[in-house]
Amino acid sequence: MAVIYKDAWEIDIMRQAGRIAATTLQALVRMVAPGKTTGELDRVAEEMIRGAGARPTFKGYRGYRHTICASVNEEIVHGIPSDGRVLKEGNILSIDIGATYKGYVGDTAITVPVGRVSAGATKLMEACQGALEAGIAQMNPGKRLVDVSRAIEQYSTERGFSVVRNYCGHGVGRDMHEDPQVPNYVDPNLPYLSMELRPGLVLAIEPMLCEGTYRTRTLGDQWTVVTADGKLSAHFEHTIVVTQEGHEVLTSLKP
Ligand code: MF3
Ligand code: CO
Ligand code: CO
Repeated sequence: MAVIYKDAWEIDIMRQAGRIAATTLQALVRMVAPGKTTGELDRVAEEMIRGAGARPTFKGYRGYRHTICASVNEEIVHGIPSDGRVLKEGNILSIDIGATYKGYVGDTAITVPVGRVSAGATKLMEACQGALEAGIAQMNPGKRLVDVSRAIEQYSTERGFSVVRNYCGHGVGRDMHEDPQVPNYVDPNLPYLSMELRPGLVLAIEPMLCEGTYRTRTLGDQWTVVTADGKLSAHFEHTIVVTQEGHEVLTSLKP
């Protein structure tokens, strides 16, 4: 494992990459409504990212051809945007987006309702956002990576949801996926989880929560990951840097 710590100059670029990803994601969220297609969202995302002088990180990654991942209902992550995928009232939609600016990546995701959704779906989305916030709250110097994983797992299971194990958060920088992997549960088989968090560590934290089983299945398109039982799943993600004082969320639009 080779963790790449970032200096202040690199963090400044990553702040800009993060802001481009976050601004674009916010615009997409405002477009979400019954009747929209995930293909439309993808085109707007690419235009906005390029308009900001950045590049869609996902495009070309392992042969992926789009700017966003758009995952509906039981789709957990890596849903492929399509003009044939029409959003319907009651759906929940996860949008994951990456922007590469001056060589550095911002990676962020959100799950939002399409029109009015069930109380159960709302609870799931709120728990997933809360789990992300609980993980972020641990990202301070002196804490250990396992504290992040544990906080996410505890927050989620206390609320009755399972946490996906086959996909993880990750270091992020020049590459979208750098070391270390950040599981959303405590895995006693990963000794590196005891590593201390120190300033300059940049992580993409991304809990994926499920109503039912955490087991996953990949569809025939070789990308779309769904819950094995067909129940709902949510996904939230931020790119965060550990600082001397604590941490800074690089993909947040909050001041
Ligand atoms: N952004 C995703 C993650 O959070 C990875 C997307 S894979 C891609 O790690 F192929 F769509 F780019
Ligand atoms: Co992502
Ligand atoms: Co990520």
